Formats: sequence, C-alpha cells, structure tokens
Amino acid sequence: MRILALALLIAAPVAAQDAPTKAQGLAAWDEIYAVTSHPRCTNCHVDEGGVPMWNGLIYGADTVHGMHVQADESRVGAETLPCRTCHIGAASVNATPHAPPMIDDAWRLPPVELAWFGKSSKDVCEQLRDPETNDGFAMDGVASHLETSAFVAWGFNPGAGRSEPPGTLDEMVVALNLWAAAGTPCANDP
Ligand code: HEC
Ligand code: HEC
Repeated sequence: MRILALALLIAAPVAAQDAPTKAQGLAAWDEIYAVTSHPRCTNCHVDEGGVPMWNGLIYGADTVHGMHVQADESRVGAETLPCRTCHIGAASVNATPHAPPMIDDAWRLPPVELAWFGKSSKDVCEQLRDPETNDGFAMDGVASHLETSAFVAWGFNPGAGRSEPPGTLDEMVVALNLWAAAGTPCANDP
C-alpha cells in the first residue's frame, strides 16, 4: 500500500508537467553518484575479488578489510570466515568505534554485477540503469530498495565516527525518481 501510494505521489507531478530534461536527469545522476561512490557504499560494492574495504577512521583511503577477510563466491565468506562471525545480523546502535557494524540483516557483499568500487560515474550510471547489472530491477524497484534496505539505512547513518555520504536518503530517492523520469541518461549517451 505504502509503495503504491508513493508511486502515485511520484507519478502525479511528472504526469502533470513535462518530463524532466536530459540535463536535469544528468544533474540528478551526479547527486546519485556522489552517494554510490562514497566509501560507506563502495566498501561493500566491490568486484569478484570479494575483499571488502575499510576507509576513513584511522585507515586512510581504501585499505583492504583487516584479518584477511574474504567474501569469496558466496559473498558472505562461507568458504572461510563468515561475515556473521563478527557482523552479527541484529540491529545495533553502532556507536562504538572500531566495532564491526551490525544491522538487522545478514552482513554480506552485493552480487558481483553491482561492483562500483573505483568505477567512473559513466560506468556506474550504465550499470544502475540496466536490470542485467542492477540486480534485476526496474527503477521503481531500485528506489524501493533504497528506502527499505538495512544496508543503505546504515550507510546514511553509520555512527562511530564514520563519514556519511552527501545529502539524505530522501534526497537520493527524489534524485533517482527524477533521473528515471528523464529516461536514465548517462554521460556521452548519443
Ligand atoms: C554491508 C554491505 C553493503 C553496504 C555497506 C551497502 N550495500 Fe548496497 N547492497 C548490498 C547487498 C547485499 C545488495 C543486494 C541486495 C540485497 O541482498 O539486499 C545491495 C544492493 C544494492 C542496490 C541494488 C538494488 C537491489 O535491490 O539489489 C543498490 C541501489 C544499493 N545496494 C545501494 C547502496 C547504497 C546507496 C549504499 C550506501 C549508502 C549501499 N548500497 C551500501 C550490500 C551493501
Ligand atoms: C573477524 C571479524 C570480522 C569478520 C569475519 C568480518 N568483519 Fe567486517 N569488520 C570487522 C571490524 C572489527 C570492522 C570495523 C573496523 C574498524 O572500524 O576499525 C569491520 C568493518 C567492515 C566494513 C567497513 C564498514 C565501513 O564502511 O566503515 C565492511 C564493508 C565490512 N566490514 C565487510 C565485511 C564483510 C563483507 C565480511 C564477510 C565477507 C566481513 N566484513 C567479515 C570485523 C570483521
């Protein structure tokens, strides 16, 4: 119900006015990329190497996760040391510096096709608009993931002195819907 109401809310103004321009869509994408390229997101959105990253605090930029943690093909470390050994799947306030973050979901890496770490704005843009490389979603599905994912909620409010991505989650959802309404433009599209 909530999602339907929301969809109507979002659809209404767009239907009533002209669709946003490509330039407006590209500007909205820049806002989205400012979040998807932030370490709170890219530390998990890594490639098939399966090594999560640490960034900030005392670690500087882009240090590999300590203790030889490897997510492997399972993306949860099932082959070696499971993520849940330390990142317990239960909600926590995550206020203690250097404690493993914990949320009400099984801590894990996303599927390989969602790897964004080290990638350009154009590359991530093309990944996120394509259901083949965005985990199979139309844009409203991506928006509802943002609104309901415990990973994303934690990323915007990580606690323990960790830096946060720019803007708010609500602003990111607005930008995503605008980008979608503009036809998901990416830089250098014909
Ligand atoms: C702890 C690891 C982790 C972190 C941190 C993380 N994600 Fe993800 N993300 C995932 C997983 C796992 C999936 C695959 C879907 C699922 O299993 O929930 C995913 C999928 C996605 C998707 C694709 C849509 C979908 O439903 O699959 C988007 C978009 C996304 N994440 C955005 C973000 C953003 C934005 C941030 C930072 C604010 C972030 N993620 C931080 C683990 C993470
Ligand atoms: C042996 C314990 C342990 C295991 C196993 C472990 N982690 Fe961690 N992880 C930690 C600790 C501790 C931290 C926080 C380090 C700090 O802040 O100094 C952390 C932090 C992280 C961060 C950084 C969060 C951020 O953006 O600041 C990510 C991402 C992460 N772990 C992913 C994983 C994944 C994915 C797995 C499984 C493949 C995993 N971890 C397994 C202990 C563990």
